[in-house]
Amino acid sequence: MYFASDNASPVPAEVLEALARANDGPQMPYGHDTIMDGVRARLREVFEAPGAAVYLVATGTAANSLSLAMLCPPWGAAFCHTTAHVQVDECNAPEAFMNGGKLLQVQGADGRMDPAALADMLQRLVPASVHNAQPSALTLTNTTELGTVYTPDQIAALTGPAKAAGLGTHLDGARFANALVTTGATPAEMTWKAGIDILSFGGTKNGLMGVEAVILFDPARAKEFELRRKRSAHLFSKHRYLSAQMEAYLEGDLWLRLARQANAAAARLSAGIAQIPGGRVMHPTEANMVFAEFPEAGHTRARAAGAAYYPHETALGARLVTSWNTTDADVNRFLGLIHG
Ligand SMILES: Cc1ncc(COP(=O)(O)O)c(C=O)c1O
Repeated sequence: MYFASDNASPVPAEVLEALARANDGPQMPYGHDTIMDGVRARLREVFEAPGAAVYLVATGTAANSLSLAMLCPPWGAAFCHTTAHVQVDECNAPEAFMNGGKLLQVQGADGRMDPAALADMLQRLVPASVHNAQPSALTLTNTTELGTVYTPDQIAALTGPAKAAGLGTHLDGARFANALVTTGATPAEMTWKAGIDILSFGGTKNGLMGVEAVILFDPARAKEFELRRKRSAHLFSKHRYLSAQMEAYLEGDLWLRLARQANAAAARLSAGIAQIPGGRVMHPTEANMVFAEFPEAGHTRARAAGAAYYPHETALGARLVTSWNTTDADVNRFLGLIHG
């Protein structure tokens, strides 16, 4: 009953096997490995973006911070949702990488940015005088931090006005796969076709040991990204071991299978909690995170039995995150305990 984080899940056998295969003989370092050639080609195919520039880093914070630094200069502002990971949970890394650029928070229900709130801020801040932060970037998160999902139309409703105001756009896709399988859209529809310029394509939360891809749909400034990655110490020498993980992730659509499993577990958990007397789901469960309230006695029983989760996430109730390896038995046992 481990629902504290999808980061706590182990690595699927397919990924370990790919690492073992990669561990054979020499490979050129620093991203020049032949496995990366395959990963680059496959991601371009998956995203229907033959010209995209594709890079790997080992953390989501690096992916987000490097991406935002590409879009937001030291005098700039990047708009994010109030609950965005870049705003709340990255220890100012995005601001450090933007070297003076700042995050400006935009409201919106259920973790999704409200287009009217963004329009209002753009109207007030664009054009900016020399005295103000220059609006430069929009960053969205899909799956959102509250477990909801943006559809391609909802993304486009935000990127459209942002781009019209001259902003570059980024998507934090730490849980991109979980969002994608919910919408049924294609990867291209969820990103560049909806106006996204740069994607942090998550792997770690969905089963990898530690790999995220950064995809620049416009490769014009690819060299700049490479320099930024190296300068920030995020260019791995034994890069083949990152490539191998991503190769396994994409092979046979493992990434989609893992995300479907995690989402299905969250759906069962959410539906079960909603049926418990005193149970209430706080935000629609659209991916692999459940925010819910249930009676204190249920918390006591579940935690005494060893269930791991964040029981009182401020006003949001409990936060429960499912993973690719969450079993029906885990969910059933937890529901039984909180029901009493
Ligand atoms: C939405 C989102 N983005 C980015 C990250 C950052 O990932 P990392 O911890 O690998 O830096 C996380 C991790 O919790 C996340 O939830």
